[in-house]
Amino acid sequence: MVTKVSVRYPQRGTRQVSGVLAVNDVSFSVAPGEFVAIVGPSGCGKSTLLKAIAGLVPLTSGNVAFGSGPETRVGFVFQTDALLPWSTASSNIELALRLAGASAVTARDRARKLLAHVGLENAAELFPGQLSGGMRKRVAIARALAYHPAIFLMDESFSALDAQTRIHVGNFFLTLLAESQQTVVFVTHDIEEAVAVADRVLVMSHGPGRIEREIAVPLPRPRDYHASRFVAGFDDLQRRVWQALPASRELEQ
Ligand SMILES: Nc1ncnc2c1ncn2[C@@H]1O[C@H](COP(=O)(O)OP(=O)(O)O)[C@@H](O)[C@H]1O
Ligand SMILES: [Mg+2]
Repeated sequence: MVTKVSVRYPQRGTRQVSGVLAVNDVSFSVAPGEFVAIVGPSGCGKSTLLKAIAGLVPLTSGNVAFGSGPETRVGFVFQTDALLPWSTASSNIELALRLAGASAVTARDRARKLLAHVGLENAAELFPGQLSGGMRKRVAIARALAYHPAIFLMDESFSALDAQTRIHVGNFFLTLLAESQQTVVFVTHDIEEAVAVADRVLVMSHGPGRIEREIAVPLPRPRDYHASRFVAGFDDLQRRVWQALPASRELEQ
């Protein structure tokens, strides 16, 4: 639950309180197991909002709460995989588990199981530089899954993949989600992708970002990352998201 969250970055090198207002009074809630996508123009504050939810940037005002369960951890999948290049696929996951308090033996065992779960049992001892983009993305997803996060935060997670790999990893991810009933907040600038995967799309304004509109996506599940774009009703939903987006500033005088 995100309540009246604002984030202002301090101005670099000054003591001024003004700085950049990146997120402006945003409130929304996500039901357990729900998949919410957030779209909006570049620089509108999407990444800042996710980081604020994750506790990676301080809130200037407002509040973030994670329901009533004991689990408050978040799993974060960035656009870049953010894997440690000098650690193997397995060690990257083990490190996350160790930081979350697991013993070395437990971490190793669980990392193996997670890698098998994402179809990479044979890549455990390979380094990120030896893996393809799609494989690295799957390691990053496995790492985020490692500590059973209450919520999965994804920031343009598939944007850097080539089209074919994106479909492969996207479908892979949708299948994992269907099994785990994971709650997801998924930031993307790709409107088609947002409608294809999400239960609900939140549309942000130009920065400082506010949520302008909320569009429910009642397309059937299970979804297919690619084929769901051709089902009845998709075009209409996509059009509604486009119409809710603010006009491009590049077209304005
Ligand atoms: N670490 C930072 N320090 C100062 N300003 C920042 C920082 N990160 C982002 N910003 C500014 O905050 C605004 C929102 O950025 P961001 O959240 O990255 O937007 P988006 O992800 O939607 O493209 C932009 O004006 C950006 O320049
Ligand atoms: Mg961003």
